[in-house]
Amino acid sequence: MSDKPKGEVRPIFPLGAVVRYRNPQHEEIDLEGLEFFPNSGSKTESTADRLNILREPRFRALSTFLEECVADYLDNVYCYQYDRFEIVHAWVNRAPEGGFQRMHYHGNSVVSGVYYLKADAKRSAPLIFEKPEFNSQPYLAIGVREQTIFTANRIAYPATAGHAYLFPSQIRHGYETPNQGGERVSLAFNVLLSGVGSFYRL
Ligand SMILES: [Fe+2]
Repeated sequence: MSDKPKGEVRPIFPLGAVVRYRNPQHEEIDLEGLEFFPNSGSKTESTADRLNILREPRFRALSTFLEECVADYLDNVYCYQYDRFEIVHAWVNRAPEGGFQRMHYHGNSVVSGVYYLKADAKRSAPLIFEKPEFNSQPYLAIGVREQTIFTANRIAYPATAGHAYLFPSQIRHGYETPNQGGERVSLAFNVLLSGVGSFYRL
């Protein structure tokens, strides 16, 4: 056995937590009659952003599941103190074969999430999170032999039907890898909190 030191690694102040939830009651939801509009800068189309699509009766069961996920994320992952949360925006996105979505983040939201209505974990474009780099001064660009959570600035998670990911709304995300394996359909949403109190840090 080697007696060389092997430290215990602890991430300090990570950028955020992405949490995956599996819906045990996942079933295909008929999208018949929903109106989709093309997105600019992406090869996708989405339902209107002024419409909370989760209010549609066909999404009622899914809405209950996603609210349970949000409650877990807020209460057990971030341990936030608040009175109520609300899923304030929700919309459906469709990416065709070869579709992609440029990197972006969600404003007017604390927590965002995505649920895959239709996706193939092996072939659909994965969800990518990105840590933006900003340098206002010269900096050291040290190469790495292997990416770790301390050096990587991109991470991809598979788009899997029946799974949701929740993440902080300010984190950049998207899918720039062209989608494969047919249509990829997701439902995205934003969450706001009320009763968070006033806070002033000197
Ligand atoms: Fe998004």
